[in-house]
Amino acid sequence: MAQRMVELIEAKRDGAALSADQIHWFVQGVVEGRIPDYQSAALLMAIYFQGMNRQETVELTMAMAHSGDILDLHDVAPVVVDKHSSGGVGDKTTLVVQPLVAACGVPVGKMSGRGLGPSGGTIDKMESIRGWSPELDLARFKQQLRDIGLVLSGQTSDLAPADGHLYALRDVTGTVPSTPLIAASIMSKKLAGGADAVVLDVKVGSGAFMPTVEAARDLAQIMVEIGEDAGRRMAALISNMDEPLGYAVGNALEVKEAIATLRGETTAGMAVPPDFWEHAVTVAAHMVLLAGRVPSLDEARSLVTAARDRGDGLQKFRQMVAAQGGDVRQVDRPELLPQAPLVETIAVKRAGYVTRIDAGALGWTAVRLGAGRAEKGAAIDHAVGFVMPVKVGDRLQAGDTLATIHAASDGALRDAEEAIRAAVTLRDEPVEPLPLFYDMLGET
Ligand code: URA
Repeated sequence: MAQRMVELIEAKRDGAALSADQIHWFVQGVVEGRIPDYQSAALLMAIYFQGMNRQETVELTMAMAHSGDILDLHDVAPVVVDKHSSGGVGDKTTLVVQPLVAACGVPVGKMSGRGLGPSGGTIDKMESIRGWSPELDLARFKQQLRDIGLVLSGQTSDLAPADGHLYALRDVTGTVPSTPLIAASIMSKKLAGGADAVVLDVKVGSGAFMPTVEAARDLAQIMVEIGEDAGRRMAALISNMDEPLGYAVGNALEVKEAIATLRGETTAGMAVPPDFWEHAVTVAAHMVLLAGRVPSLDEARSLVTAARDRGDGLQKFRQMVAAQGGDVRQVDRPELLPQAPLVETIAVKRAGYVTRIDAGALGWTAVRLGAGRAEKGAAIDHAVGFVMPVKVGDRLQAGDTLATIHAASDGALRDAEEAIRAAVTLRDEPVEPLPLFYDMLGET
């Protein structure tokens, strides 16, 4: 039925539920380029404030999933697994987990996104590698999955194109932290990507879009239900984002940290952060378990760890980089990845226990350094960011390293120093380290 976009905006602005027809008309209009960005942005903001009921969220997800093709991968493998994070600071989990799971003999077909607000995006990180491309048509997606057991694509004109458009708009219009918009964005990609089993990593905390465990649980629950209703096996982990994951924040720096983690050693000055490895091995083990490769989580963990220890995960990562046009010399020698002109280590000024880290502020610090976007489609600087080997609960002495900042200019470096110092609270009383996970839903 013909609609007028302004009527949808006004209806949602005033708190009404949109009909299935209206939602499908909107999503189709976005993909066909009939709806100008300013009207889409207005509707997104109305949804941000007014929310969507369960039925609207399901319709939005389905309309976005069906805005392109829905892959059927059963001619490639009987069970393909996927994972997705709801977004966090320093979250380079996919770069480690995907090759490790593939190295365990479980094919991983994954569609990722770019940076979103203060949270980095897998595609932006991978594009730090010269020549690497997320643009794969359906035939190549399948062929690569068949050939090497892993593929990492972005939203394309074939796969979840509506999410490609809306995601880029949400990034720059302050409309990211909305449960229905996140659920539809993530699950449309997961349904279109064709995986049989999906592990969701739903983050909670100052560096996440969900501020409380309850809100994260609600988001996880609706995504698990949408997936299960579509016949997928689903698991969701609720994980901590009250401090960055690992040490590195910024695209090439995170790729280096991921390579170091796959190697299990210090690489080009990047050590393996214990929290990041524990997080990665847990997510990977859940993927291996959900795919039915082994009967228990303990066995899945052993399989994943052995794949890392044998170097098979690193080999898979290398194969994926090569298959998607990337320069594997930068994987073998991470020091060849983009380097910022200015690198400076800043020290702690007073002794104390780290009691709080404002991960969200740190994410925005990376964006301001140039690692993320202020405008739709803007270029980013892959080299900039920081490495902060500091966790809540650590006891620090004056003079210890607080962070090493990688910046494009002196002004940006000084701004980042001020922001990083302000984001870390030191007190005299000890505090416990933060847990990595709070809860699990679905088949865990
Ligand atoms: N990841 C996505 O793909 N979409 C969101 O909205 C948030 C995280």
